[in-house]
Amino acid sequence: MQNNKFPQDFLWGAATAAYQVEGAWNEDGRGESIWDRFSHTPGRITNGDTGDIACDHYHRWEEDIALMRRLGLKAYRFSTSWSRVLPGGRGLINPKGLDFYDRLVDRLCVANIEPLLTLYHWDLPQTLQDEGGWENRSTAHAFADYAALMVKRLGDRVKYWTTFNEPSVITYIGFITGEHAPGFQDPRVAYQVAHHLMVAHGLGTQAIRAANADVNAGIVLNLWPAEPASDSVEDVAAANKYWEKQETLFLDPIFKGHYPPAVYNMVGPNMPKIQDGDMALIAQQLDFVGINFYSRHVISSTGELKEIEGSEYTEMGWEVCAPALRRMLVKINSEYNLPPIFITENGASFKDEVSADGKIHDPRRIDYLKNHFIQTRLAMLDGVDVHGYMVWSLMDNFEWGLGFSKRFGLTYVNYATQQRVLKDSGEWYAEVIRKNEVWEYHT
Ligand code: FCB
Repeated sequence: MQNNKFPQDFLWGAATAAYQVEGAWNEDGRGESIWDRFSHTPGRITNGDTGDIACDHYHRWEEDIALMRRLGLKAYRFSTSWSRVLPGGRGLINPKGLDFYDRLVDRLCVANIEPLLTLYHWDLPQTLQDEGGWENRSTAHAFADYAALMVKRLGDRVKYWTTFNEPSVITYIGFITGEHAPGFQDPRVAYQVAHHLMVAHGLGTQAIRAANADVNAGIVLNLWPAEPASDSVEDVAAANKYWEKQETLFLDPIFKGHYPPAVYNMVGPNMPKIQDGDMALIAQQLDFVGINFYSRHVISSTGELKEIEGSEYTEMGWEVCAPALRRMLVKINSEYNLPPIFITENGASFKDEVSADGKIHDPRRIDYLKNHFIQTRLAMLDGVDVHGYMVWSLMDNFEWGLGFSKRFGLTYVNYATQQRVLKDSGEWYAEVIRKNEVWEYHT
């Protein structure tokens, strides 16, 4: 195989998440989620934006599948809204909610697009939050029941099931900085939540497999490599320490069966309650792992984060550094016994504007993606088993606390009219998929 060619069955795709695109927040029996409550609370989201309408995907899903066909996507990663199918989090099922996902999946199959389904992309039903949310162990059991329900209905067509998207963002941003729903700033709660997310992942994995033994179960972790500002022993040590503290809280329990000592020391009096048997439950063998990669942290000996002079930064303030993706894939591949990997998110936010010709010229996004595809291919040649790549995102959408102010899409969304326009990066990506290679394409 030529080095610039990807394997024949490589799954090129794009990703979205329910709350970021669906809208229809109170239609057809959908229950309230913590993101509805949070975005409706004044002062929480940039410009007071909400996901009430978002990209109106709940009504425009057919048009969106047509868009995926135009891109030639081989896979589509999306999440289901728990409160759309179980408005109260448990118990009463909302048939219209389930039907929505059933139709979506059916049509994806007709279009020959492999669905990758994420059960939890941050939108806990508000009723469960009112009972204590992830701080309560019972929420993990409710999650497993929800997982079983979804697999029973869709498992004949959906082969890839992800329990959680980015447990570390849920923990740190939802419960320590408070910038995401439910907006807590309490480390004691945060670490208990972190553990319960892991318990829910374990119970959810069991429930997925019990409901259908033929499907693949996995989880999506976001990882930001910590790289030293220089080769000095001090900088290297500081970077290693930073990685251990920030990035191993979920990797270690899932793939090594224990929490990392460095994190334990940091947690101190906020140590969560852990029951006998929990670690084995969490460390079940997975069929795949999803990695979300956007950028890296550069650390100096004092433990401080450094901006790199001459580096490019995105609208999110994230450094563009594609080689860090390859280095990180190689590192985790050697440090953990990993199942097949999917890049489940990668992409960049830039200031996109519609030009006079009606197009969106986004050469920086093309460069960003191209370089990350190349680095992934190089990691594969280094021996890392990557099976697919989901660009974030299929279309511009509600970027959580930052509302609609940040655009990540391959498709531009005009929020006033809901018109979708493929950006240059979308056209370019379609070409990559068609050729199944990257290097030789010139923009
Ligand atoms: C990730 C989230 C995704 C999106 C990107 C930019 O952390 O999983 O929903 O917001 O960041």
